[in-house]
Amino acid sequence: MKNSALSQLARRTGPPPISWLMHLALSRPKLISLAAGFTDNESLPVAEILETLGEILHTNKTGQPALQYGSTQGDATLRAVTSKRLQKLDGIATARRAYSPERMIITNGSQQFLYMATEALCDPGDLVLVEDPTYFVYLGILQSRGAKVRGVRMESDGLDLAHLEKILESLKKCGELRRLKALYLVSYFQNPTGITTSSAKKLAALKLLKQYEPAAGHPIYLLEDAAYRELRFGGEDVKSALAARGFENRVIYAGTYSKPFATGTRVGFGLLPEPVFSAVLRIKGNHDFGTSNLLQQLLARALASGRYEKHLGDLQKRYARKAGIMLNALQKHFPPQIKWQAPAGGLYFWARLPRGIKSGVKSKLFQAALAKNVFYVPGVLCYAEDSTRHKPDNEMRISFGGASEENILEGIKRLGTVLTKYRCTISGQN
Ligand SMILES: Cc1ncc(COP(=O)(O)O)c(C=O)c1O
Repeated sequence: MKNSALSQLARRTGPPPISWLMHLALSRPKLISLAAGFTDNESLPVAEILETLGEILHTNKTGQPALQYGSTQGDATLRAVTSKRLQKLDGIATARRAYSPERMIITNGSQQFLYMATEALCDPGDLVLVEDPTYFVYLGILQSRGAKVRGVRMESDGLDLAHLEKILESLKKCGELRRLKALYLVSYFQNPTGITTSSAKKLAALKLLKQYEPAAGHPIYLLEDAAYRELRFGGEDVKSALAARGFENRVIYAGTYSKPFATGTRVGFGLLPEPVFSAVLRIKGNHDFGTSNLLQQLLARALASGRYEKHLGDLQKRYARKAGIMLNALQKHFPPQIKWQAPAGGLYFWARLPRGIKSGVKSKLFQAALAKNVFYVPGVLCYAEDSTRHKPDNEMRISFGGASEENILEGIKRLGTVLTKYRCTISGQN
């Protein structure tokens, strides 16, 4: 056939690295994966979920509604509980519009929410600012939607505001600001760097975006992805952008119950102001007209019974321990030229190798690591296609989430051996 029947979107959409990373991890059982962001397997709450499902399915009265279709927006009880939880996390005592259950949509993981929010905002050629580096699966969404991306540099407390302002100014000068729709921030224990953006920086970013709206001619949203917020095992919680007074119509917040409870349930949620809320609701109506009712009721009951909270506390302790094990192993086995920052939550360490030592999929380093049955996420995957800078290719994301304690130790030891061997010989080669 001369022509393809595929849509432009289908032809444009590249293979998501997450799929082959997960496939690699699952298809080679001997491989120690410090790559894909699987959560801790041994602590997945089987007994708690069985008990909760038993309560729901114990009688027809509670069981049948859970086994029936629900609404597109999502279970009202789950939305109300989630809204209260978020206000509490942000230390806000009285009900505020930004957190209203009326503004919330329950989704199939926060991933679906991110997809739909981006679908509602971006036409091909539109622009989204992201942290440099950022969550590579979100970069896939943008690539698929045909959106352009610019990376905003990061500092140890999050976004580099001076760089954000410089980018906004340059977009204004070249008339591109009208294509800018949002700034996407993975604000807590960021995937991939583990960095948390301070609430002062979130507020400053909101103010900056607002300042450039007249030139854009439309609202510019802050899309806050708080996927790792509850996986905090050190430091103080940071207020979300929802708490920023006067910006309730500019913040879109994505949250999830996957990471802090059971990844396989994939129940996420989002809060949005109008008109994005109604647009996403219409889109969700076309996608699936509602997230699994049974899973939503499972979450609502796990939250109400205290099982969620209990599990979360255990999980935080477990991740603290695993992060500590990884830190000790890195200190022991990695050559001293390799730098990292210990995270206070989330699932990741971000290691920076000396310049010239490449860590990409085709690099000798990555291949040597694979040969030793260990792998990581090459840092280069986390950088947007941004022609204004070179993509760094000397970093790696290493996760302590899915691997057992034994495998964390063994995996880092193997990576350390490979790094020590290649440090002197692979400089400058690919
Ligand atoms: C930054 C970030 N956002 C969103 C997600 C999506 O998670 P889920 O769809 O399970 O809520 C992930 C998953 O790894 C993530 O790392």
